[in-house]
Amino acid sequence: MFVSELNMVSFRNHRRLFVDLEPKMYRIIGPNGTGKTNFLEAIYLAMTGRSFKTASLKEVIAFGEESAFVAATVVMDDFARDMEITVKKDKRRFLRDHNPVKNTSAYGRGMGVVLFEPGHLQMVQGAPSRRRAFIDDMLRMLSPAYDEAYTSYYHVLYQRNVVLRKLRDMDLLDVYDRSLANYAAVILRERLKFLKRMAASVSTYYEAIAGEGEGLELRYKASFPVVLDGELETAFYESLKQRRETDRERGRTSIGPHLDDLSFLLNGEEAKKFASTGQIRSIVLAMKCMEIDRVSEQLGEAPVVLLDDVMSELDEKRRRMLLSMIRGQCIITAAEPMEALEEAAEAIDLIELKKSADDLREEDLW
Ligand SMILES: Nc1ncnc2c1ncn2[C@@H]1O[C@H](COP(=O)(O)OP(=O)(O)OP(=O)(O)O)[C@@H](O)[C@H]1O
Ligand SMILES: [Mg+2]
Repeated sequence: MFVSELNMVSFRNHRRLFVDLEPKMYRIIGPNGTGKTNFLEAIYLAMTGRSFKTASLKEVIAFGEESAFVAATVVMDDFARDMEITVKKDKRRFLRDHNPVKNTSAYGRGMGVVLFEPGHLQMVQGAPSRRRAFIDDMLRMLSPAYDEAYTSYYHVLYQRNVVLRKLRDMDLLDVYDRSLANYAAVILRERLKFLKRMAASVSTYYEAIAGEGEGLELRYKASFPVVLDGELETAFYESLKQRRETDRERGRTSIGPHLDDLSFLLNGEEAKKFASTGQIRSIVLAMKCMEIDRVSEQLGEAPVVLLDDVMSELDEKRRRMLLSMIRGQCIITAAEPMEALEEAAEAIDLIELKKSADDLREEDLW
């Protein structure tokens, strides 16, 4: 899969920019603040309907403008899809092949994009929500059933918490508990199934990156006792029921997939607490390699890979290892030139692109 055309108007610091792309590796090198990350954000947004920088889409509108526009032609399965997003201060419009699409999951269905940015290092070091987000984002992209269960789960969770805080309606609470248990079971089963498959591949990648003698293991840490004999839904419902009083005192739901965690064990020790900076980077790198594989497998073609400012953090061996892993279209940003990139990737020059877009505008006027 690859982006063959990218067009943006009033998107962050890019007033107007148009570029033709091929299914190969590109590099964007330039000083801090030139709009490299914004460029990747535009691709990610055009493909998925979501930004990796903000939950509030109106932030992408260039300062002083009323709206932002980004469009991409994505070639998948040998078909060109037109993806188009307009963001205004109070509304947004998503068009897929010129048809309006209501939600982001329908908009981005089947699109494969894998992003790696420095913030992802928090996957190991940061709060559990970071690790859940990694698994959830991937599963939501891979499985529509998961995506649906996920959205519904959070919707019901919110409603249950409102009942806990403000209402004393036990019947209503029971309705929410049953519904929550139903979605939680789907989420948990899919997460565990996924984890089982991905754990082996992540360990293999880790070893390839770090060398022998370091073993990486992944473990799921559930916030409630998990039974796996098909009674998951009932068991979770019972646990919720038992906790109603405590939950009411706290004003929130104290167990469930929204609180579960994932732990990385390096030679048997919790990586979050004991791993070195380089080891943490390698763990995230291994996770990303696995993600590229899983998405490729699912979609039957390689995803678009966006690597934001990660090369500078790696030594030469790891850089080359990473580049050799990637098939298909990949866009890599860096603040400084580096040998491995110069050799492997073609340059995208943001300054030149801006100039030519401005020239085009002048000509349009005539
Ligand atoms: N909505 C917006 N409108 C106009 N400019 C914006 C908007 N949002 C961010 N910017 C500008 O974009 C610039 C940052 O762009 P970006 O993060 O893409 O830079 P970068 O090239 O990735 O830099 P670095 O090398 O530091 O990562 C900042 O100067 C910021 O002020
Ligand atoms: Mg950046």
